[in-house]
Amino acid sequence: MQQDWDIVRLRAETAGCEQSIFFNNAGASLQPRAVVARVIEHLRLEERVGGYEAADLVASELGRLYDSVARLLGCAPEEVALQENATRAWEMAFYSLRFAPGDRIVTAANEYASNYIAFLQVARRTGAEICVVESDQAGEVDLEALQGLLDDRVKLIALTHVPTNGGLVQPAARVGELARRAGIPFLLDACQSVGQMHMDVNVLGCDMLCATGRKYLRGPRGTGFLYVRSAMLAQMEPPLLDLRAATWVEKGKFEIRGDAKKFETWESAAALRLGLGVAIEYALALGLERIERRVRYLAALLRERLAEVEGVTVWDLGRVRCGIVTFTHELHPAGDVMQWLQANGIAVRTIVRSSTRIDMEQRGLDELVRASVHYYNTEAEVERLCEVLRALNGP
Ligand SMILES: Cc1ncc(COP(=O)(O)O)c(C=O)c1O
Repeated sequence: MQQDWDIVRLRAETAGCEQSIFFNNAGASLQPRAVVARVIEHLRLEERVGGYEAADLVASELGRLYDSVARLLGCAPEEVALQENATRAWEMAFYSLRFAPGDRIVTAANEYASNYIAFLQVARRTGAEICVVESDQAGEVDLEALQGLLDDRVKLIALTHVPTNGGLVQPAARVGELARRAGIPFLLDACQSVGQMHMDVNVLGCDMLCATGRKYLRGPRGTGFLYVRSAMLAQMEPPLLDLRAATWVEKGKFEIRGDAKKFETWESAAALRLGLGVAIEYALALGLERIERRVRYLAALLRERLAEVEGVTVWDLGRVRCGIVTFTHELHPAGDVMQWLQANGIAVRTIVRSSTRIDMEQRGLDELVRASVHYYNTEAEVERLCEVLRALNGP
């Protein structure tokens, strides 16, 4: 039992806690009431005065979102671009980089499908090669093997910090150290890690990082952001430009802006961004180190209890494990397990092979059940999940 958390208050501030036992925080977490209220309030304002006029009225609050993201990541506000999801953030960074035949993109076995699809497309277009570093005994990227690969051909190291399909936390800071020493750009997909652990881009050593609002940050859907280190900004030309990213200065000439906003578009959902700002401040007020400790504690408890349920195998890799817990049941497909849990008021998700194909193939896995915990979950909810799973085996 953890004493330093006012769980009653946190749950009272989360309307969804009244509806279900929610273990889909890696999908889209339950938003705090204050987040939803801020979104609705702004939509009402837009209804009354018009979208542009409403945005004018909250311009300074919208501007402060860059400061909130910067405090969350330990970077400067000028290094932040707001996006509508993590994928678009990642793509804006990745497709800004230039590759030639023989250039190498180095990645790890747990890379997320959307990122890998982009590698394949760019490899096909440019003749660049994709190198997947082998994993070590614990399932983390093998740092010695990575170091051995880093030569002049490597133009990018791209790593998924926490995969969509398990509790593994990649040793991103060690990878960052190697990348920095070799002078190779390092792109970190932090979609599943931001909001559930303390993050500092200078400790992680990444040059680019993407994240989403709706997962562990508990923000609205349709929000995300990109961090790009100021030293990288000048070398990166966004693959798409509009009149926010650039200015049409003469009939035949445009100028791209200097800060990370060059990766943004002019149009955006102000209400969602205001909600994201509330969600980030909520997380910062609780403290990311505290959140990390509680999430790890609850996930470890869940793994321990799940391992005691007959027929269940827990699959999470890594020396350090986070809030994502994955398992299979020897008698029931993942979809059936999810439905059974859902019918009993418990939200989990399934993971299919194609979302992290390399890792799933290496481990001979087709599908998994994913139960992802957050700090507002309780020990009693963990016990209830296991009890319902036991009932799946029959009386
Ligand atoms: C590791 C990882 N990267 C990227 C994404 C994509 O995030 P978004 O849906 O916000 O674009 C996900 C989504 O599940 C993910 O798990």
